[in-house]
Amino acid sequence: MEITGKSKIMFVLADPVDHVRASAVLNAYFTEISEDVATSPLAVRPQDLSHVVGAIRLMGNVVGFGVTIPHKVAIIPLLDEITDRARMIGAVNFVRRSDDGRLVGDNMDAPGFIAGLSAHGYSVAGKRVLQIGAGGAGRATALAIAEAGAAELWISNRDAARGKALADAVQAAFPQTHVVSGSAAADTFDLIVNTTALGMKPGDAVPVDLSQLPSSTVVYDIIVNPPVTRLMEIAHARGAVTIGGKAMLDAQMALVGAFIRR
Ligand SMILES: NC(=O)c1ccc[n+]([C@@H]2O[C@H](COP(=O)([O-])OP(=O)(O)OC[C@H]3O[C@@H](n4cnc5c(N)ncnc54)[C@H](OP(=O)(O)O)[C@@H]3O)[C@@H](O)[C@H]2O)c1
Repeated sequence: MEITGKSKIMFVLADPVDHVRASAVLNAYFTEISEDVATSPLAVRPQDLSHVVGAIRLMGNVVGFGVTIPHKVAIIPLLDEITDRARMIGAVNFVRRSDDGRLVGDNMDAPGFIAGLSAHGYSVAGKRVLQIGAGGAGRATALAIAEAGAAELWISNRDAARGKALADAVQAAFPQTHVVSGSAAADTFDLIVNTTALGMKPGDAVPVDLSQLPSSTVVYDIIVNPPVTRLMEIAHARGAVTIGGKAMLDAQMALVGAFIRR
């Protein structure tokens, strides 16, 4: 990749910055589609976020920036506008900068999750879905699953109160989906989604018992690294279709591309 004065520039704002992978994925994506866009991680401490955002407004060749831990919520009041879905999710993970410096925030987790599923030929419409986890990404996926027309969504989270709060919020936003919180046996669902961090580290517990998993169930683990988690290995051994977090991440790259071209 050659970066010149004609290149469009993007950043990924994070603290710590050493875990950031999105910049490499974005650079690979834009190289693949021959678009002259270069992305760099930026180490930004929480107390410096408003200064950095103010400076980016003044940078004429910047077209946007990704936002990750711990800035996804704190960035919101610093922007000119956020999309309806970012407002509903309560977090922003990508910001578009217009030529006049105006900043619009969006959240690509929800559409990326659904696009990753459909890239494998599956949809949640009319399906029974079990989601494990109710953190930041889990909030986006739960809203996306209900919005896409799931018949039933079970949300199971270690912190049960957090799981119930998410289930209540999703139920209020999408009354057509029956949303329930609490633990559930894995054997009656069409789709099982892991949105917890369990599976990122070797030796992590498996987030849900798959010992009775039917081979007809699809198991979607949104963890990106490792690309194949223990949960996916167990599901695969039981004959189920598995989808990894790369599908969701790749889909988000295409969405970012479309967002900055608007
Ligand atoms: N593929 C993608 O594009 C994509 C996008 C975003 C995130 N992700 C991945 O999604 C995962 C979660 O990210 P996040 O931003 O949602 O994190 P988060 O907001 O910190 O939420 C973490 C979730 O994991 C649960 N959890 C953590 N440790 C646990 C344990 N030991 N036992 C049981 N549950 C545990 C938490 O439960 P409690 O509520 O009980 O703490 C919570 O539900 C990460 O692996 C991240 O890389 C992937």
